[in-house]
Amino acid sequence: MKIFYAMPFTGKTYEQLVKEKKTIQELVNSFGLELNEQFLGVESKNEFEDHAYGPLFIAEKDHSLIRNSDILIADYSRHSIGRDCEIVIAKEIFDKRVISIVPSRGMQNHPWIRLYSDYIVGSQNEALNLAQKLSSFSLSSNISSLSREQKDTIDIQVNELVKERGINYVTELFPTELKRRWQKLFGKEYRIILDYCFKALPKTLRANTVKANVQKFKKFAKKQGWKLKTLDFSNIAFRLHPNLRPHFSEIPEHQKGLFYVQDFASMIPAIILDPKSEEKVLDIAAAPGSKTTQIAQLMENKGYILANDISTERLDVVKKSCKRLGIKIVKISLGDGVKLGEKYKEVFDKVLVDAPCTNEGILGYKVHKFFEWNLLLLYRITKVQKDLLESGFKALKVGGTLVYSTCSYAPEENEQVVDFLLKKYPNSDVKIIKLKGVKTRSGLTKWEHLEFDQRLMQTARVFPQDNNSIGFYVAKIIKKKSKI
Ligand SMILES: C[S@@+](CC[C@H](N)C(=O)[O-])C[C@H]1O[C@@H](n2cnc3c(N)ncnc32)[C@H](O)[C@@H]1O
Repeated sequence: MKIFYAMPFTGKTYEQLVKEKKTIQELVNSFGLELNEQFLGVESKNEFEDHAYGPLFIAEKDHSLIRNSDILIADYSRHSIGRDCEIVIAKEIFDKRVISIVPSRGMQNHPWIRLYSDYIVGSQNEALNLAQKLSSFSLSSNISSLSREQKDTIDIQVNELVKERGINYVTELFPTELKRRWQKLFGKEYRIILDYCFKALPKTLRANTVKANVQKFKKFAKKQGWKLKTLDFSNIAFRLHPNLRPHFSEIPEHQKGLFYVQDFASMIPAIILDPKSEEKVLDIAAAPGSKTTQIAQLMENKGYILANDISTERLDVVKKSCKRLGIKIVKISLGDGVKLGEKYKEVFDKVLVDAPCTNEGILGYKVHKFFEWNLLLLYRITKVQKDLLESGFKALKVGGTLVYSTCSYAPEENEQVVDFLLKKYPNSDVKIIKLKGVKTRSGLTKWEHLEFDQRLMQTARVFPQDNNSIGFYVAKIIKKKSKI
């Protein structure tokens, strides 16, 4: 008899895990059973300590081990096992005998099954049958492969649920591990952040000075009856009265490129980058182009921007926006940004690395994103983020500025990524971020068992409750002369 034992790694030290591993091994031996190895990641102390999370090792490497086991034990005994473990367990759970040492709740109560049964297929049995049928169905990760309509349905239904039963009922459905992390990260402000996920944020927009002067836009806004408040950090950017929620794309002036709608926090990275006319700028992950077009505007449509992205469809949106806004200095580039550093060594005056991320800061935009979140995604994305940042840094001239940003709160995607660069490149440094009218919190120097360079304090965390915006992280990095 082979046995598979799953337990939460998160929040545990390496030493604790080694001890638990020994105990489990002894227990299994005493019953004459065989333990299928599931403490992967514990083998190498360095690898384990490189991450603030552990269960992903189970999720990533252990599928065959689970498949070959006769018994699965899901250890819910200490604290919640976390969504990442649930993924794996749920995947194989239907044709295995499961012994849960202290099961907190049965599969029937799994939040995703509840959501799926309530709103997508109708009944719980049907949801469970469906899960069984789709061998690749994994309870939390596979929401990403639902159709656009199904995702929209979830968003609508969840928003209705919030209205009917309140936020608490809905947040109960969110991934356990995400909630644990946010509670630790935000402390007393945890509820405030969750509440903000369901708030309709006031709309912010930029007058497109490439096409017309700001007065023309103001005149148009007045005609529309829009109440505008100029943003402190830019006299061409405005916040609309919170009650105003126009269908912008239907407005002819929007189609003609008189203005561009962009969230307040999303405008910060380009302002910090401070691109000048005639400079050479690399936007390494540019689509759909909100920051590319903002950068072009700051450069007064003079100079050169290489707008790169890995997605053809998303780059089409950049092309269309540039056309609509009359931007002429953008060259579109399709490909993996990770390769650009070698190709364009020290070519650019400014580089923006607005990295792909888990979107934690905008989860409320599209509620289904809450159900897409998992540690495996976090793990995969941090690797891309580090590679993109390193590539962007290589492409930066000595004396140049690079801005790294994400719309996530996870320290692994933010401070840890910048910390990686500071350690690897002694000629990199960070500069403090201060912007009029933007309230920021210092970057972290500690998270779980990870410690980061003290300079990370100079990077900025943008919280929704401080600015009535989405959540963001911004780091300003410079390249000094190499000492060699
Ligand atoms: C946060 S979005 C960028 C948003 C954009 N900067 C804006 O302001 O509109 C991240 C982008 O990274 C792209 N991406 C993901 N992996 C990439 C890679 N290896 N190289 C280049 N782009 C990548 C995604 O397609 C996505 O468009």
